[in-house]
Amino acid sequence: MSIISKDIQKAIALLSNEELVAIPTETVYGLAGNIFSEKAIKRIFETKKRPFFNPLIVHISSVALLETIVSEVPEKAQTLANTFWPGAMTLVLKKHKDIPDIITASKDTVAVRVPNHPVTIALLKQLPFPLAAPSANPFNNISPTKPAHVERYFKNDIKMVLDGGTCKNGIESTIIGFEKGEPIIYRLGALAIEDIEAVVGNVIIKNKKKENPDAPGMLDKHYAPLTATILTTDIASEIKKHTKKKIGILAYNSSFKNDTVAIEIILSKNSDLQEAASKLYAGLHELDHLNLDVIIAEKLPETGLGKSINDRLQRAAFNS
Ligand code: TXA
Ligand code: MG
Repeated sequence: MSIISKDIQKAIALLSNEELVAIPTETVYGLAGNIFSEKAIKRIFETKKRPFFNPLIVHISSVALLETIVSEVPEKAQTLANTFWPGAMTLVLKKHKDIPDIITASKDTVAVRVPNHPVTIALLKQLPFPLAAPSANPFNNISPTKPAHVERYFKNDIKMVLDGGTCKNGIESTIIGFEKGEPIIYRLGALAIEDIEAVVGNVIIKNKKKENPDAPGMLDKHYAPLTATILTTDIASEIKKHTKKKIGILAYNSSFKNDTVAIEIILSKNSDLQEAASKLYAGLHELDHLNLDVIIAEKLPETGLGKSINDRLQRAAFNS
């Protein structure tokens, strides 16, 4: 029997009973539990096989609840929250004393966001506690953007995926920390840097492990398919190097198909970066289940969401 269901009351019952439910957001599906239940939070780490040093994001239903999660809000953080929440932006701020250490990996900061998905907002409004939710994939695997992706990963581990359809943004939230009140980007994501800079001025990006050992999720290899993946600006030449292999192509806006290519996915024929982001992980999930020898992915333009997509593709292709 499928664990995918639209029954919000059932999700409330499970979460209130310290169990896990996968929840829809506009970015990717999350594996959610009550932030105050040690049992539920431990299960999140076990289910994902995620190391305890990697902290979780707290999800709340409105900007007004921010003061229950954090102890200090710099002016630019408040401006960003007012502008972009609900939305695909996570803020890392000094934590409120009530936030359990297991959520934050014992750091003095906590990551928090208001997701922009009607089903999950309705769920959060009916729960007396916030939800911790990392992306609903095993550690280092591709994040899920459809209920079926979560079911494939976790059908033996959790009782329910709350069905909210396909995630419309399709890559994770942009994570922003603060140093001396100034915003620092820890993870490129579904909210473009240009949009953030339009509101708070220039921001610094520290999204590599060596630049920011404090954001432990920034491992070089991440979001990775099991199939060997190559990232290139020149797909045609790369295809020629692999002619004896079973090749899958992940292209931006145009076709490279010839008889040595087994399958090709084009992310956006109209060169729309938002559409490309929303289709990225679904494309990688599909290619990764076709027993290909190699996935050849095309580098996108380095502007707006193109930067975030290239970041994920670089991590997918790391070392393969
Ligand atoms: O879009 C998203 O952000 C999704 C949806 C479900 O909300 N969630 C998500 O969670 O991507 P996760 O756990 O896969 O990624 C959270 C990232 C990790 O890289 C973690 O290291 C970082 O946030 N993080 C969490 N708390 C932090 C903190 N206090 N300081 C620095 N980084 C933190
Ligand atoms: Mg993740």
